[in-house]
Amino acid sequence: MPAVIRENVPLAPYTTFRLGGPARYFLNARTVEDVIEGIRFAADRGLRVLPLGAGSDVLIPDSGFDGLVIRLASLRGFRTNGNLVYLKAGEPLPRVAREMAEKGLSGFEYVVGVPGTVGGGVAKNAGAHGGEIKDILVEAYVVDTGGNVNTLRRDELGLTYRSSSLPSRGILVEALFKLREDDPEVIKRRIDEFLSYRETRQPWTERTAGCMFKNPPGDYAGRLIDLAGLKGFRIGGIRVSEKHANFFINEGGTADDAIRLIEYVRDRVREAFGVELEVEIEIVR
Ligand code: EPU
Repeated sequence: MPAVIRENVPLAPYTTFRLGGPARYFLNARTVEDVIEGIRFAADRGLRVLPLGAGSDVLIPDSGFDGLVIRLASLRGFRTNGNLVYLKAGEPLPRVAREMAEKGLSGFEYVVGVPGTVGGGVAKNAGAHGGEIKDILVEAYVVDTGGNVNTLRRDELGLTYRSSSLPSRGILVEALFKLREDDPEVIKRRIDEFLSYRETRQPWTERTAGCMFKNPPGDYAGRLIDLAGLKGFRIGGIRVSEKHANFFINEGGTADDAIRLIEYVRDRVREAFGVELEVEIEIVR
């Protein structure tokens, strides 16, 4: 069945921040063939392509995206072979953590509280509790701008703290991970610990985009924003969380409010501590 490409589709419902305008073109990819078709559609028309996973680490401008959004959250499925697991791009990381725990496979439990997908997790080298995607990734299967599927080894993906070269390489459709066998009950206990850490420290039921800034070397963005007295500070309908200062909460604001709050917080932290905070989320242009 050919992929359905729709026009002028609101993107806010596809982001955890619930912000941003429409996509000029939008494809909800369910198969690798859909992704290839989308990439060819965009190439034929000279359009930019924006891959979207769970929409958890991204800020889409109020003007939207003047190209093709390929949403990958419906590209689902996995298979295991011993301690190796192949995961499709749209698999949600919290679900993967639980599925692997059931199978007695350890390595994904630290992402149980990361509201992203496998594709987004590799693109941002998602991490928490001392673990990173980089630790378990073997290789990624990526569709390039010509519509060809390439295999990229972990060391070809430039994985560093909350960053990778994936966005310039194409769209990840599947990835292979190497896990470690362990007692399912022990893995589940770790999962429970990570979840309770997140529940007590992060505003996980609110509309947020995850941590807004990377931690600067040797310090914590949340600590610095907190010390600058910015908890609860608001611009328009976006405010700095009282629970964890590195999260912004959308209470009916706009992407423009969020961008102004990012700039404001960076300015205050620079003035107070001489530290330049780097944005962690992807701000789409
Ligand atoms: N802190 C404050 N005030 C705050 C928030 C934090 O003083 O409002 C202090 C804490 O007391 C602690 C330190 O800052 O001493 C670090 O805080 P926390 O333990 O909450 O961890 P974090 O460094 O802020 C990182 C990741 C999170 C990840 C957690 C758990 C980054 C930018 N953040 O947070 O990842 O969930 O560790 O491992 O690396 C994300 O990447 O989107 C994200 C949320």
